[in-house]
Amino acid sequence: MSIERTLVLIKPDGVRRGLVGEILSRYERKGLTLVALEHRTATGALADEHYAEHTSKDFYPPLRKFILSGPLVALVLEGDNAIECVRLLNGKTDGRVAEAGSIRGDLALSNRENLVHGSDSAESAARELTIWFPDVSPSV
Ligand code: PPS
Repeated sequence: MSIERTLVLIKPDGVRRGLVGEILSRYERKGLTLVALEHRTATGALADEHYAEHTSKDFYPPLRKFILSGPLVALVLEGDNAIECVRLLNGKTDGRVAEAGSIRGDLALSNRENLVHGSDSAESAARELTIWFPDVSPSV
């Protein structure tokens, strides 16, 4: 058993489309525990820090514009193998080819407006949780 914490962002398209409850319920029904939740609008500095490894890529300007385009919902989720579990529930990055049954596979049709972000490793989770939730411990 490996109890982990991970960061999830329900991106601005998820809020705009009224899918926050649907998405949150998928994580809860799986058995993950909601440790913290914040409805907020990212700043440019926060986006640049969160996506530090992508800021020099061609797709970053449109990604940055999108992530700043409205409020999002940031979550801390906890559970056994939570980091991988969330990635599986989210599905492949590109909603056009994401697996049916996953959040993106069922609800998204884009590489950019793909509803959710989940930390991709223990190192990323620790870094991202500290950025978004400085007052919440990144580990159990
Ligand atoms: S990489 O280069 O393989 O590491 O990138 P990837 O993991 O596929 O994607 C990283 C995040 O960038 C977003 N993305 C895009 N945004 C806008 N336009 C384009 N073309 C694009 N391609 C990828 C993608 O949704 C990922 O966001 P997060 O929040 O990390 O899921």
